[in-house]
Amino acid sequence: MIKDNAYKVKWGILSTGWIAHQFATDLAHASNGIAYAVGSRNQESADEFASNHGIPVAYATYEDLVNDPEVDAIYIGTPHPFHKDNALLALRAGKAVLCEKPFTVNSGELEEVVSYAREHKLFLMEAMWSRYIPANAKVREWIAAERIGEVRLVQADLGFRAEWNPQSRLLNPALGGGALLDVGIYPISFASMIFGPHPESIASTVHMGETGVDEHFSLLLSYGGGKTAALSGGVRLNMLQEAKVFGTQGHIIVKGSFVNPKSAELYVDGELAETFEDDRTSIGYAFEAEEVGRCLQAGLTESPVLTLDESLAILKLLDQVRAQWGLAYPGE
Ligand SMILES: NC(=O)c1ccc[n+]([C@@H]2O[C@H](COP(=O)([O-])OP(=O)(O)OC[C@H]3O[C@@H](n4cnc5c(N)ncnc54)[C@H](OP(=O)(O)O)[C@@H]3O)[C@@H](O)[C@H]2O)c1
Repeated sequence: MIKDNAYKVKWGILSTGWIAHQFATDLAHASNGIAYAVGSRNQESADEFASNHGIPVAYATYEDLVNDPEVDAIYIGTPHPFHKDNALLALRAGKAVLCEKPFTVNSGELEEVVSYAREHKLFLMEAMWSRYIPANAKVREWIAAERIGEVRLVQADLGFRAEWNPQSRLLNPALGGGALLDVGIYPISFASMIFGPHPESIASTVHMGETGVDEHFSLLLSYGGGKTAALSGGVRLNMLQEAKVFGTQGHIIVKGSFVNPKSAELYVDGELAETFEDDRTSIGYAFEAEEVGRCLQAGLTESPVLTLDESLAILKLLDQVRAQWGLAYPGE
């Protein structure tokens, strides 16, 4: 637990790829954290990353990073198949952990990580950054206040057309490729934020690509009582990335990408009733980092905004969907 209110969490960034760069850039906007150290698989990329982001300490191995006694929290930005080992490495060194989505490749892996964290009373959180974006917090507030009545339908999709590269992390099965794990987890987590993570039934369709992973898919999740989520995702198909939530008395449109929205509109009985606009200059990753800082300050070992049980239930849902498709990754 961090006792001093003015204390800034010293982050250690594990890996130096695309998302690690985004996270490190946005940490400059976090009120309660600083990028203190970076660890890579070689000194050269660690040094380059550190110099680009003004980070004082750069390590040639992930082990050295997690063993730095000054580091409070580790951010993991490696491809999905490495999340489990990287998270356990950091937890075993006694660090708080924020791990990129999907938390792990499957729920069995996550159970191991969660058990270790719980047993040792260490903080652990999935970097599902969209949960912590203010416009999505406003969506939760409108729904809790029953501004749209009873919610019946959630529609969300997230897709982009990645270039054709069978070796890339998005298409290569050995790197956990495929749309469901990379982007599908966002609309599923969005629906979970509204209906919870336990649908009564799951119907799905999928297009499996040449590399043997899902290039795009659609899901119809039914929660009983007329509650449904229609969700799609793709890594070889551009989609609009909007989310809409329909209730018995109105609807909400999350504008732009629901993953990182800057605005949301509330309609009651078909009329625009309220608009939420967010004039932040951060990319959007600072909010999840701040949530970690708040939790550490409060002595929490998980975030109440997205609990470990919910992250686990979402991964179990992903496992079920992949089982419907017969999609297993190497080693599963
Ligand atoms: N939240 C978001 O908006 C968002 C966006 C994109 C991706 N992600 C997630 O972030 C993770 C990484 O995605 P990315 O696009 O940043 O990937 P990336 O650009 O390929 O970077 C991954 C980094 O992981 C490290 N790494 C360790 N073992 C590796 C291996 N065997 N092969 C390749 N890289 C390895 C490397 O850093 P070193 O060389 O320094 O060790 C590499 O630069 C994925 O799980 C993805 O789902 C999240």
